[in-house]
Amino acid sequence: MGALDDRVAVITGAGRGLGREHALLFAAEGAKVVVNDLGGAPDGSGSDATPAQQVVNEIRAAGGVAVASPDDITTAGGANALIQQAIDEFGALHVLVNNAGILRDRMIVNMTDGEWDDVIRVHLRGHFMPLRAAAQYWRAQAKAGNAALRPSVINTSSTSGLFNNPGQVNYGSAKSGIATMTIIAQRELDRYGVKVNAICPAARTRLTLATPGISDAILHAPDEGFDVMDPANVSPFVAYLATADCPIKGRVFFVAGGDISLFQPFAIIDSISKDGKWTVEELATEAARLADVPFDLGQPRL
Ligand SMILES: NC(=O)c1ccc[n+]([C@@H]2O[C@H](COP(=O)([O-])OP(=O)(O)OC[C@H]3O[C@@H](n4cnc5c(N)ncnc54)[C@H](O)[C@@H]3O)[C@@H](O)[C@H]2O)c1
Repeated sequence: MGALDDRVAVITGAGRGLGREHALLFAAEGAKVVVNDLGGAPDGSGSDATPAQQVVNEIRAAGGVAVASPDDITTAGGANALIQQAIDEFGALHVLVNNAGILRDRMIVNMTDGEWDDVIRVHLRGHFMPLRAAAQYWRAQAKAGNAALRPSVINTSSTSGLFNNPGQVNYGSAKSGIATMTIIAQRELDRYGVKVNAICPAARTRLTLATPGISDAILHAPDEGFDVMDPANVSPFVAYLATADCPIKGRVFFVAGGDISLFQPFAIIDSISKDGKWTVEELATEAARLADVPFDLGQPRL
């Protein structure tokens, strides 16, 4: 018995890194997996169907069930085809893991239009397009009285957004948007029985290896003992969120090594107020103290 027996899962960006580990574990836990990957370079350029097919070959060699998808999930056509492929191949869709991503880091003053647009497109649009296609299918199933699917969506955000990394204004903005998308999607799709959560992972992949100033734990696997930054450490929690019985919904988590931490969404921590409209002069006296209200960012240990 696997934790994901009888579940059909689409995983985007599953040809490498974290997505590949999710796909291998999902299949080992009994899911039928559509392994999607455009196969581009870390900056999003180019395409290659080989990485997705290699993961499918690995899954099949281990006795699992998987098919490859080379679709670009940032286009409506690609995302719709991906969701339809799961339904055509396996008869249903239960789980969508939005994971595909690229990086094009630059300080704001030097960032090109293309560096901004490409990162926003792959992450924000690349999450929205498959989410919309899956949500339309799940709404139709709910309206037809099919309550058995118990759908799950797991999105991929990042501490680069939620903890505001300089040099990544495109990526961080997109990743914060994905955290908000997750909570809004839960509020909209709850009526169809869909559970939507997001993870902020930390792991050794080609994206983190190329990031300047990255920690030694990411750069080098230890010779012995627990490899905290092994991307495979992140996948069990993603698989748990994908199980039909998981009670968690509308939440955002940091996941790395053996740590799973729950984020609080944006919250008001202090206010000034009056019964009427402020003048600028009044605000200069009353509001200035908000500059000194401390934030407890609750940084994860790494
Ligand atoms: N590695 C980390 O520590 C870390 C931290 C925070 C967030 N993330 C996020 O985790 C996700 C996975 O990243 P990773 O570190 O495994 O990187 P990775 O480069 O190893 O894997 C990302 C995969 O996404 C694919 N992809 C890119 N654009 C695509 C598109 N348009 N359509 C289909 N596939 C596409 C790439 O070909 C690649 O195989 C990303 O969303 C990334 O931003 C990773």
